[in-house]
Amino acid sequence: MKCSRLPVTNMSANFKLDLIHRPRRLRRTASLRAMVEETVLRPADFIAPLFVVDGKPAPVEIKSMPGVYRLNIADLVRECRVLHKLGVPAVALFPKLDPGLKDDEGTMALSEEALVLRAVRAVKKAVPELTILTDVALDPYTSHGHDGVLTPERDDVDNDRTVGLLGQMAVLQAQAGVDLVAPSDMMDGRIGAIRKALDAAGFTGTGIMAYSAKFNSGYYGPFREAVGSAQAAGTRLLSKATYQLNPANRREAIAEALLDEAEGADILMVKPAGLYLDIIRDVREVTRKPVAAYQISGEYAQIHAAARLGWLDLARCRHESLLAIKRAGADMILSYFAKEMAAVLRG
Ligand code: PBG
Repeated sequence: MKCSRLPVTNMSANFKLDLIHRPRRLRRTASLRAMVEETVLRPADFIAPLFVVDGKPAPVEIKSMPGVYRLNIADLVRECRVLHKLGVPAVALFPKLDPGLKDDEGTMALSEEALVLRAVRAVKKAVPELTILTDVALDPYTSHGHDGVLTPERDDVDNDRTVGLLGQMAVLQAQAGVDLVAPSDMMDGRIGAIRKALDAAGFTGTGIMAYSAKFNSGYYGPFREAVGSAQAAGTRLLSKATYQLNPANRREAIAEALLDEAEGADILMVKPAGLYLDIIRDVREVTRKPVAAYQISGEYAQIHAAARLGWLDLARCRHESLLAIKRAGADMILSYFAKEMAAVLRG
């Protein structure tokens, strides 16, 4: 018996599903899509990380971070004015020190004339409404590139001695006018010790944004080039595995965030962001404190590199990467895209 075959086009023309739910109804037009949009980015979501250098050099672009420059204090102040006008509420300042100023103990971190403190004073004076954050960690200051001072055996970072120094560093930053100190070192007990030190010095109003779940990531390379800790350590891949979190660990990250909250952190941060969306969501669900996420240098570099090769569209992927971080539960995002995002979002 010969079977006659219907042409394929005819078959699909007649095919009908008996569906009650057709989710595509709400994606049909631009206005419907806008009405059901769940996550919206705004300029106030962003904190702009900025790199500062001493002297009068013209802005130097960081090779692995297109569009990101090391700025002298005058240029930094100008940049902060622009960011403020664009509606970006905060900046995080990172100093790049002359290698000659670094030593084993990170002594320059405790100088009242430290570059970052002079930068803070200048920005506060020029744009007082802008919120200023500074890292509390020794890595821009040490000749070995670690976030703290080393043990006598020089085989690890000395936790308690480092925490003692970080408390003093935070007080100096508060004195200079910082609104939020941001311990990024991952030592045990540092949030409680810094809170105590700030309060004892009368800075009860200075907040702490804790780098709570900070992972031992391979994606920090471009940042280490930017602040010169890579040059100091002789590698961009210095392992910080004895203090930063193992990227494999989710429970431990939550435990760290809860410890920081208990010790008095005002804001809990997850870092990196895009590779750790599960951790952002987890932290969002265990705390009632605001949650921050840091889209780090390597995340920024990846998007730029692929865009340069013509493999990804920069504007789309930039937006999508940040939207995902907010959707995961971040209330605020540190990102090197802060300025351009604010400009785009304002239209
Ligand atoms: C150092 C610090 C790092 C970053 C912020 N503060 C790098 C590190 O721990 O080595 C990373 C930021 C980035 O990669 O954009 N305490």
